[in-house]
Amino acid sequence: MALSSSKVSLNLFCFVLFMFFLIDGSFSQLSENFYAKKCPNVFKAVNSVVHSAVAREPRMGGSLLRLHFHDCFVNGCDGSVLLDDTPSNKGEKTALPNKDSLRGFEVIDAIKSKVESVCPGVVSCADIVAIAARDSVVNLGGPFWKVKLGRRDSKTASLNDANSGVIPPPFSTLNNLINRFKAQGLSTKDMVALSGAHTIGKARCTVYRDRIYNDTNIDSLFAKSRQRNCPRKSGTIKDNNVAVLDFKTPNHFDNLYYKNLINKKGLLHSDQELFNGGSTDSLVKSYSNNQNAFESDFAIAMIKMGNNKPLTGSNGEIRKQCRRAN
Ligand code: HEM
Ligand SMILES: *[C@@H]1O[C@H](CO)[C@@H](O)[C@H](O)[C@H]1NC(C)=O
Repeated sequence: MALSSSKVSLNLFCFVLFMFFLIDGSFSQLSENFYAKKCPNVFKAVNSVVHSAVAREPRMGGSLLRLHFHDCFVNGCDGSVLLDDTPSNKGEKTALPNKDSLRGFEVIDAIKSKVESVCPGVVSCADIVAIAARDSVVNLGGPFWKVKLGRRDSKTASLNDANSGVIPPPFSTLNNLINRFKAQGLSTKDMVALSGAHTIGKARCTVYRDRIYNDTNIDSLFAKSRQRNCPRKSGTIKDNNVAVLDFKTPNHFDNLYYKNLINKKGLLHSDQELFNGGSTDSLVKSYSNNQNAFESDFAIAMIKMGNNKPLTGSNGEIRKQCRRAN
């Protein structure tokens, strides 16, 4: 008697929860097993290319991870960031946050042709970017998560949308970072966890110059060492000199990024904003002390970011080539 009534209330509870997600709209239309029937070998195909690209150049793992972020923040995760400009349409590639900066398009092309060779016309470029981001993290020693799939590809891309400030710039205040992520349905905690992506990859002199010459919340020896490769004067080819975002373990996906922040050794102004006497100090401290907490919050936030406004059903298309609409 007691047993069956608790079963009933459990069922009712699940039903209410389900309706809540349905009405709330946060119920993801994506699923982990989307290609289980139509392309069971997609993961193997993607990872084989990511694995060799990252083995050749570890930074590529960072570049592929960032592609997913920049794709998702401009009109959702729809592969729009991959579209080349055409005579009639300027896409996202030449937008300020992307130009001379985003990398990895050749690797995405290589993945796409491998995937097309095993299951032609099935897997979207947007999903390929999402899987490649996860595999990049895993190949550099970070956490694994089950990527949700079923995104379709956009037919267009918008330069204006990519330039509209939806992707926060590196001179952002903490408030701007919080608000830009909030606008994408991501919490402050998600924002701090996702920023841990700067445990890998590199940045150009032009995006950290002001910080290493003008900021006061920076370790002075660290600033000096970065100034050697990034002169105060802008407008030369040295603008493109790069420095690693995590000076301790630049090719390893770990929580040392947060330890750097505590030591005032964040490379970007926006990095150091996360630990500068504000509301996110405590999160930075806890991630710096707890690799597991960071890894699990990062994985959760990546799934959330990847759920952002996907094209599904009959919207969009499955591109044949990632650089252009069919
Ligand atoms: C919190 C706000 C963020 C800001 C202001 C920001 C800004 C930047 C900037 C300015 C660069 C260097 C670009 C260049 O020099 O060309 C960079 C690199 C990078 N970003 Fe972020 N980013 C943010 C969040 C994220 C997120 C959420 C991810 C991924 C989940 C991410 C992943 C990366 C990676 C991996 C690199 C290195 C890329 C490479 O070496 O090719 N960033 N970011
Ligand atoms: C630093 O601040 C000064 C004064 O505001 C400004 O002129 C300069 O462009 C800033 N950046 C660098 C790299 O010195």
